[in-house]
Amino acid sequence: MAHRLFAATLAWTLALLLLGSIVHATESSLACPDWPTCFGTMTPEMTGGVFWEHLHRLWAGALVLLFIVATVVLWRQAPPRPSLQRTTLAGIALLLIQSVLGGLTVIYRLPDAISTSHLALAFLFLGLLTVLTVVTSRGWQERPNPAGSGLLRVGLLIAGLVFAQSILGALVRHTDAGVACPDVPLCLGRVIPPLDHWMVQLHFGHRALGLALAATTVAAAVHVLRTYSGPVPRRLVGGLLIGVLAQVALGFLSVAVQLHPAAVSTHTLLAAGLLSMSVALAAWGWAGAPMDGAGAAPNRDLHTSAGTALS
Ligand code: HEM
Ligand code: HEM
Repeated sequence: MAHRLFAATLAWTLALLLLGSIVHATESSLACPDWPTCFGTMTPEMTGGVFWEHLHRLWAGALVLLFIVATVVLWRQAPPRPSLQRTTLAGIALLLIQSVLGGLTVIYRLPDAISTSHLALAFLFLGLLTVLTVVTSRGWQERPNPAGSGLLRVGLLIAGLVFAQSILGALVRHTDAGVACPDVPLCLGRVIPPLDHWMVQLHFGHRALGLALAATTVAAAVHVLRTYSGPVPRRLVGGLLIGVLAQVALGFLSVAVQLHPAAVSTHTLLAAGLLSMSVALAAWGWAGAPMDGAGAAPNRDLHTSAGTALS
Protein backbone atom coordinates (compact mmCIF):
# COMPACT_ATOMS: atom_id res chain seq x y z
CA MET A 1 0.00 0.00 0.00
CA ALA A 2 2.77 2.48 0.96
CA HIS A 3 4.52 1.69 -2.34
CA ARG A 4 1.40 2.49 -4.39
CA LEU A 5 0.89 5.75 -2.51
CA PHE A 6 4.53 6.81 -3.01
CA ALA A 7 4.27 5.87 -6.72
CA ALA A 8 1.11 8.02 -7.09
CA THR A 9 2.86 10.87 -5.24
CA LEU A 10 5.81 10.53 -7.63
CA ALA A 11 3.52 10.90 -10.67
CA TRP A 12 1.86 13.91 -8.97
CA THR A 13 5.29 15.48 -8.34
CA LEU A 14 6.33 15.09 -11.98
CA ALA A 15 3.13 16.89 -13.00
CA LEU A 16 3.90 19.63 -10.45
CA LEU A 17 7.38 20.10 -11.89
CA LEU A 18 5.87 20.45 -15.36
CA LEU A 19 3.35 22.99 -14.04
CA GLY A 20 6.13 24.98 -12.31
CA SER A 21 8.08 25.11 -15.55
CA ILE A 22 4.97 26.27 -17.43
CA VAL A 23 4.46 29.01 -14.81
CA HIS A 24 7.86 30.46 -15.70
CA ALA A 25 7.70 29.81 -19.45
CA THR A 26 4.31 31.54 -19.79
CA GLU A 27 5.55 34.49 -17.67
CA SER A 28 2.89 33.77 -15.06
CA SER A 29 5.30 33.77 -12.09
CA LEU A 30 4.02 37.07 -10.66
CA ALA A 31 0.41 36.66 -11.83
CA CYS A 32 -0.53 36.27 -8.16
CA PRO A 33 1.24 39.24 -6.56
CA ASP A 34 0.83 37.94 -3.00
CA TRP A 35 1.46 34.70 -1.09
CA PRO A 36 0.05 32.45 0.36
CA THR A 37 -3.20 33.93 -0.99
CA CYS A 38 -3.68 35.10 -4.58
CA PHE A 39 -5.22 38.59 -4.71
CA GLY A 40 -6.17 38.07 -1.06
CA THR A 41 -8.20 34.90 -1.69
CA MET A 42 -7.64 31.15 -2.09
CA THR A 43 -10.24 31.07 -4.90
CA PRO A 44 -9.19 33.74 -7.41
CA GLU A 45 -10.62 33.90 -10.92
CA MET A 46 -8.63 31.24 -12.79
CA THR A 47 -7.85 33.18 -15.96
CA GLY A 48 -4.62 34.12 -17.76
CA GLY A 49 -1.40 33.72 -15.75
CA VAL A 50 -3.38 33.27 -12.50
CA PHE A 51 -4.58 29.93 -13.89
CA TRP A 52 -1.04 28.51 -14.11
CA GLU A 53 0.38 30.14 -10.96
CA HIS A 54 -2.56 29.35 -8.68
CA LEU A 55 -2.98 25.84 -10.13
CA HIS A 56 0.73 25.25 -9.34
CA ARG A 57 0.13 26.32 -5.73
CA LEU A 58 -3.01 24.18 -5.32
CA TRP A 59 -1.21 21.19 -6.89
CA ALA A 60 1.68 21.76 -4.45
CA GLY A 61 -0.77 21.83 -1.50
CA ALA A 62 -2.28 18.52 -2.63
CA LEU A 63 1.25 17.07 -2.94
CA VAL A 64 1.97 17.87 0.70
CA LEU A 65 -1.26 16.08 1.74
CA LEU A 66 -0.54 13.06 -0.51
CA PHE A 67 2.99 12.71 0.85
CA ILE A 68 1.75 12.92 4.45
CA VAL A 69 -0.84 10.17 3.79
CA ALA A 70 1.85 7.90 2.25
CA THR A 71 4.11 8.68 5.23
CA VAL A 72 1.42 7.75 7.78
CA VAL A 73 0.76 4.45 5.96
CA LEU A 74 4.51 3.66 5.95
CA TRP A 75 4.88 4.44 9.66
CA ARG A 76 1.99 2.10 10.50
CA GLN A 77 3.52 -0.82 8.59
CA ALA A 78 5.23 -3.66 10.47
CA PRO A 79 8.07 -4.36 10.84
CA PRO A 80 9.16 -0.72 11.19
CA ARG A 81 11.86 0.49 8.81
CA PRO A 82 13.59 3.33 10.73
CA SER A 83 15.78 4.55 7.87
CA LEU A 84 12.71 4.95 5.65
CA GLN A 85 10.76 6.64 8.42
CA ARG A 86 13.56 9.19 8.83
CA THR A 87 13.59 9.71 5.05
CA THR A 88 9.87 10.58 5.06
CA LEU A 89 10.50 13.21 7.76
CA ALA A 90 13.25 14.71 5.60
CA GLY A 91 10.74 14.72 2.71
CA ILE A 92 8.16 16.67 4.73
CA ALA A 93 10.83 19.17 5.81
CA LEU A 94 11.93 19.59 2.15
CA LEU A 95 8.33 20.19 1.06
CA LEU A 96 7.78 22.84 3.71
CA ILE A 97 11.02 24.65 2.83
CA GLN A 98 10.09 24.37 -0.85
CA SER A 99 6.69 25.95 -0.29
CA VAL A 100 8.30 28.86 1.61
CA LEU A 101 10.88 29.23 -1.21
CA GLY A 102 8.01 29.31 -3.73
CA GLY A 103 6.43 32.11 -1.69
CA LEU A 104 9.75 33.99 -1.45
CA THR A 105 10.18 33.88 -5.26
CA VAL A 106 6.90 35.81 -5.45
CA ILE A 107 7.50 38.19 -2.51
CA TYR A 108 11.04 39.13 -3.68
CA ARG A 109 9.97 39.16 -7.35
CA LEU A 110 11.95 36.23 -8.75
CA PRO A 111 15.59 36.64 -7.66
CA ASP A 112 17.70 34.27 -9.80
CA ALA A 113 19.20 32.54 -6.74
CA ILE A 114 15.81 31.75 -5.16
CA SER A 115 14.23 30.59 -8.45
CA THR A 116 17.22 28.33 -9.11
CA SER A 117 17.14 26.98 -5.54
CA HIS A 118 13.40 26.26 -6.03
CA LEU A 119 14.28 23.98 -8.94
CA ALA A 120 17.18 22.38 -7.02
CA LEU A 121 14.95 21.56 -4.03
CA ALA A 122 12.22 20.22 -6.34
CA PHE A 123 14.77 17.81 -7.83
CA LEU A 124 16.12 16.83 -4.39
CA PHE A 125 12.60 16.03 -3.23
CA LEU A 126 11.95 14.05 -6.41
CA GLY A 127 15.12 12.00 -5.77
CA LEU A 128 14.08 11.28 -2.19
CA LEU A 129 10.57 10.28 -3.27
CA THR A 130 12.01 7.98 -5.95
CA VAL A 131 14.09 6.16 -3.33
CA LEU A 132 11.00 5.73 -1.14
CA THR A 133 8.98 4.44 -4.09
CA VAL A 134 11.61 1.90 -5.12
CA VAL A 135 12.56 0.53 -1.72
CA THR A 136 8.93 0.06 -0.60
CA SER A 137 8.19 -2.09 -3.68
CA ARG A 138 7.88 -5.85 -3.35
CA GLY A 139 10.30 -6.25 -6.27
CA TRP A 140 13.04 -4.39 -4.37
CA GLN A 141 12.59 -6.46 -1.23
CA GLU A 142 12.60 -9.74 -3.12
CA ARG A 143 15.42 -8.96 -5.52
CA PRO A 144 18.73 -10.82 -5.29
CA ASN A 145 21.31 -9.22 -3.00
CA PRO A 146 22.85 -6.42 -5.06
CA ALA A 147 26.04 -6.04 -2.98
CA GLY A 148 28.93 -5.13 -5.28
CA SER A 149 26.66 -5.05 -8.33
CA GLY A 150 27.93 -1.65 -9.44
CA LEU A 151 24.42 -0.42 -10.22
CA LEU A 152 24.54 1.89 -7.19
CA ARG A 153 27.68 3.60 -8.52
CA VAL A 154 26.38 3.86 -12.11
CA GLY A 155 23.03 5.25 -10.92
CA LEU A 156 24.67 7.78 -8.60
CA LEU A 157 27.09 8.93 -11.30
CA ILE A 158 24.28 9.63 -13.78
CA ALA A 159 22.03 11.17 -11.11
CA GLY A 160 24.84 13.48 -9.96
CA LEU A 161 25.50 14.64 -13.52
CA VAL A 162 21.77 15.15 -14.26
CA PHE A 163 21.40 17.17 -11.04
CA ALA A 164 24.41 19.39 -11.82
CA GLN A 165 23.26 19.86 -15.41
CA SER A 166 19.78 20.78 -14.22
CA ILE A 167 21.07 23.44 -11.81
CA LEU A 168 23.15 24.84 -14.68
CA GLY A 169 20.02 24.75 -16.88
CA ALA A 170 17.99 26.62 -14.25
CA LEU A 171 20.75 29.25 -14.09
CA VAL A 172 20.65 29.55 -17.89
CA ARG A 173 16.90 29.97 -17.69
CA HIS A 174 16.71 32.44 -14.80
CA THR A 175 19.57 34.66 -16.01
CA ASP A 176 17.90 34.79 -19.44
CA ALA A 177 20.88 33.15 -21.13
CA GLY A 178 18.60 30.71 -23.03
CA VAL A 179 19.36 32.31 -26.38
CA ALA A 180 22.87 33.63 -25.57
CA CYS A 181 23.82 31.22 -28.36
CA PRO A 182 20.91 31.93 -30.72
CA ASP A 183 21.89 29.33 -33.34
CA VAL A 184 21.89 25.52 -33.42
CA PRO A 185 23.73 23.22 -33.62
CA LEU A 186 26.66 25.68 -33.61
CA CYS A 187 27.01 28.50 -31.07
CA LEU A 188 27.54 31.96 -32.60
CA GLY A 189 28.55 30.15 -35.80
CA ARG A 190 31.40 28.22 -34.14
CA VAL A 191 31.85 24.78 -32.58
CA ILE A 192 33.50 26.53 -29.64
CA PRO A 193 32.29 30.14 -29.48
CA PRO A 194 34.30 33.13 -28.18
CA LEU A 195 33.86 32.77 -24.42
CA ASP A 196 34.31 36.40 -23.41
CA HIS A 197 30.76 36.99 -22.13
CA TRP A 198 29.47 35.19 -19.02
CA MET A 199 26.10 34.47 -20.66
CA VAL A 200 27.75 32.65 -23.55
CA GLN A 201 29.97 30.78 -21.04
CA LEU A 202 26.89 29.70 -19.08
CA HIS A 203 24.85 28.71 -22.12
CA PHE A 204 27.74 26.94 -23.84
CA GLY A 205 28.69 25.23 -20.54
CA HIS A 206 25.14 23.81 -20.36
CA ARG A 207 25.36 22.51 -23.92
CA ALA A 208 28.82 20.99 -23.37
CA LEU A 209 27.89 19.32 -20.07
CA GLY A 210 24.67 18.06 -21.71
CA LEU A 211 26.71 16.33 -24.43
CA ALA A 212 29.16 14.91 -21.85
CA LEU A 213 26.22 13.63 -19.80
CA ALA A 214 24.69 12.01 -22.88
CA ALA A 215 28.01 10.29 -23.75
CA THR A 216 28.40 9.05 -20.14
CA THR A 217 24.84 7.73 -20.10
CA VAL A 218 25.28 5.89 -23.41
CA ALA A 219 28.51 4.25 -22.14
CA ALA A 220 26.88 3.33 -18.81
CA ALA A 221 23.78 1.95 -20.54
CA VAL A 222 25.84 -0.24 -22.89
CA HIS A 223 27.78 -1.54 -19.87
CA VAL A 224 24.61 -2.34 -17.90
CA LEU A 225 22.85 -3.93 -20.90
CA ARG A 226 25.89 -6.14 -21.54
CA THR A 227 26.41 -7.11 -17.91
CA TYR A 228 22.98 -7.41 -16.27
CA SER A 229 20.14 -9.68 -17.22
CA GLY A 230 17.61 -8.44 -14.62
CA PRO A 231 14.64 -6.72 -16.31
CA VAL A 232 14.44 -3.74 -13.93
CA PRO A 233 18.00 -2.37 -14.42
CA ARG A 234 17.72 -3.07 -18.16
CA ARG A 235 14.42 -1.19 -18.42
CA LEU A 236 15.79 1.71 -16.41
CA VAL A 237 18.94 2.12 -18.51
CA GLY A 238 16.87 1.69 -21.68
CA GLY A 239 14.70 4.59 -20.50
CA LEU A 240 17.78 6.64 -19.59
CA LEU A 241 19.35 6.01 -22.98
CA ILE A 242 16.30 7.09 -24.98
CA GLY A 243 15.57 9.91 -22.53
CA VAL A 244 19.01 11.49 -22.62
CA LEU A 245 19.15 11.48 -26.43
CA ALA A 246 15.66 13.01 -26.59
CA GLN A 247 16.74 15.58 -23.99
CA VAL A 248 19.71 16.74 -26.09
CA ALA A 249 17.40 17.03 -29.11
CA LEU A 250 14.84 18.96 -27.03
CA GLY A 251 17.55 21.31 -25.74
CA PHE A 252 18.57 22.22 -29.29
CA LEU A 253 14.92 22.43 -30.33
CA SER A 254 14.24 24.84 -27.44
CA VAL A 255 16.81 27.24 -28.89
CA ALA A 256 15.57 26.74 -32.46
CA VAL A 257 11.99 27.67 -31.43
CA GLN A 258 13.23 30.55 -29.25
CA LEU A 259 12.22 29.01 -25.93
CA HIS A 260 8.65 28.17 -26.86
CA PRO A 261 6.86 27.18 -23.59
CA ALA A 262 5.98 23.68 -24.91
CA ALA A 263 9.62 22.88 -25.74
CA VAL A 264 11.23 24.24 -22.55
CA SER A 265 8.57 22.80 -20.25
CA THR A 266 9.01 19.35 -21.79
CA HIS A 267 12.79 19.87 -21.36
CA THR A 268 12.26 20.40 -17.59
CA LEU A 269 9.93 17.40 -17.33
CA LEU A 270 12.36 15.12 -19.14
CA ALA A 271 15.23 16.30 -16.90
CA ALA A 272 13.08 15.29 -13.92
CA GLY A 273 12.37 11.92 -15.56
CA LEU A 274 16.11 11.32 -16.08
CA LEU A 275 16.83 12.17 -12.46
CA SER A 276 14.12 9.83 -11.24
CA MET A 277 15.25 6.92 -13.44
CA SER A 278 18.92 7.28 -12.46
CA VAL A 279 18.05 7.50 -8.74
CA ALA A 280 15.81 4.42 -9.18
CA LEU A 281 18.78 2.56 -10.72
CA ALA A 282 20.98 3.54 -7.77
CA ALA A 283 18.27 2.50 -5.29
CA TRP A 284 17.92 -0.85 -7.07
CA GLY A 285 21.64 -1.49 -6.57
CA TRP A 286 21.60 -0.30 -2.95
CA ALA A 287 21.94 -3.10 -0.40
CA GLY A 288 19.70 -1.23 2.05
CA ALA A 289 20.03 -0.42 5.73
CA PRO A 290 20.28 -3.57 7.95
CA MET A 291 16.55 -3.56 8.82
CA ASP A 292 15.49 -2.74 5.26
CA GLY A 293 17.19 -5.52 3.33
CA ALA A 294 15.66 -8.33 5.37
CA GLY A 295 13.93 -9.87 2.36
CA ALA A 296 17.03 -10.01 0.15
CA ALA A 297 18.60 -13.41 -0.50
CA PRO A 298 22.31 -13.39 0.48
CA ASN A 299 25.29 -13.99 -1.81
CA ARG A 300 23.47 -13.98 -5.10
CA ASP A 301 24.28 -11.46 -7.63
CA LEU A 302 22.34 -9.45 -10.14
CA HIS A 303 24.60 -10.39 -13.04
CA THR A 304 23.04 -13.77 -13.50
CA SER A 305 19.61 -13.30 -12.04
CA ALA A 306 16.46 -12.49 -13.91
CA GLY A 307 15.55 -10.00 -11.13
CA THR A 308 11.99 -9.20 -10.16
CA ALA A 309 9.84 -6.46 -11.65
CA LEU A 310 8.78 -3.55 -9.44
CA SER A 311 5.44 -4.42 -7.96
C1 HEM B 1 2.77 26.84 -2.40
C2 HEM B 1 4.01 26.60 -2.66
C3 HEM B 1 4.67 27.03 -3.94
C4 HEM B 1 4.69 28.25 -4.55
C5 HEM B 1 4.04 29.54 -4.07
C6 HEM B 1 5.45 28.12 -5.77
C7 HEM B 1 5.70 29.13 -6.67
C8 HEM B 1 6.39 29.02 -7.83
C9 HEM B 1 6.68 30.09 -8.75
C10 HEM B 1 6.24 31.54 -8.57
C11 HEM B 1 7.39 29.59 -9.79
C12 HEM B 1 7.97 30.36 -10.98
C13 HEM B 1 9.40 30.74 -10.59
C14 HEM B 1 10.11 31.61 -11.60
O1 HEM B 1 9.54 32.01 -12.62
O2 HEM B 1 11.26 31.92 -11.37
C15 HEM B 1 7.57 28.18 -9.53
C16 HEM B 1 8.25 27.32 -10.35
C17 HEM B 1 8.50 26.00 -10.06
N1 HEM B 1 8.04 25.30 -8.96
FE1 HEM B 1 6.96 26.04 -7.41
N2 HEM B 1 5.89 26.83 -5.87
C18 HEM B 1 5.44 26.13 -4.77
C19 HEM B 1 5.66 24.81 -4.47
C20 HEM B 1 6.40 23.94 -5.27
C21 HEM B 1 6.69 22.58 -4.93
C22 HEM B 1 6.22 21.86 -3.65
C23 HEM B 1 7.45 22.07 -5.96
C24 HEM B 1 8.04 20.71 -6.15
C25 HEM B 1 8.28 19.85 -5.22
C26 HEM B 1 7.62 23.12 -6.94
C27 HEM B 1 8.32 23.01 -8.13
C28 HEM B 1 8.54 24.01 -9.03
C29 HEM B 1 9.34 23.89 -10.21
C30 HEM B 1 10.09 22.65 -10.69
C31 HEM B 1 9.32 25.12 -10.87
C32 HEM B 1 10.06 25.49 -12.17
C33 HEM B 1 11.38 26.09 -11.73
C34 HEM B 1 12.20 26.57 -12.90
O3 HEM B 1 11.64 26.82 -13.96
O4 HEM B 1 13.42 26.71 -12.74
N3 HEM B 1 6.97 24.25 -6.49
N4 HEM B 1 6.96 27.85 -8.34
C1 HEM C 1 21.27 16.24 -21.79
C2 HEM C 1 20.97 16.67 -20.66
C3 HEM C 1 20.27 17.96 -20.32
C4 HEM C 1 19.57 18.15 -19.18
C5 HEM C 1 19.36 17.13 -18.05
C6 HEM C 1 19.05 19.51 -19.21
C7 HEM C 1 18.29 20.07 -18.20
C8 HEM C 1 17.83 21.36 -18.19
C9 HEM C 1 17.07 21.95 -17.12
C10 HEM C 1 16.59 21.22 -15.87
C11 HEM C 1 16.85 23.23 -17.44
C12 HEM C 1 16.13 24.26 -16.55
C13 HEM C 1 14.65 24.22 -16.78
C14 HEM C 1 13.94 24.95 -15.69
O1 HEM C 1 14.53 25.78 -14.98
O2 HEM C 1 12.72 24.70 -15.55
C15 HEM C 1 17.44 23.48 -18.73
C16 HEM C 1 17.39 24.68 -19.41
C17 HEM C 1 17.82 24.83 -20.70
N1 HEM C 1 18.47 23.89 -21.49
FE1 HEM C 1 18.96 22.01 -20.93
N2 HEM C 1 19.44 20.11 -20.39
C18 HEM C 1 20.20 19.21 -21.10
C19 HEM C 1 20.78 19.43 -22.32
C20 HEM C 1 20.64 20.58 -23.07
C21 HEM C 1 21.23 20.79 -24.37
C22 HEM C 1 22.15 19.82 -25.12
C23 HEM C 1 20.83 22.01 -24.79
C24 HEM C 1 21.22 22.59 -26.14
C25 HEM C 1 21.08 23.79 -26.50
C26 HEM C 1 19.99 22.60 -23.74
C27 HEM C 1 19.37 23.85 -23.77
C28 HEM C 1 18.73 24.45 -22.72
C29 HEM C 1 18.21 25.81 -22.74
C30 HEM C 1 18.29 26.78 -23.90
C31 HEM C 1 17.65 26.05 -21.47
C32 HEM C 1 16.96 27.34 -20.97
C33 HEM C 1 15.48 27.26 -21.20
C34 HEM C 1 14.78 28.55 -20.83
O3 HEM C 1 15.42 29.61 -20.80
O4 HEM C 1 13.57 28.49 -20.56
N3 HEM C 1 19.90 21.68 -22.71
N4 HEM C 1 18.05 22.32 -19.18
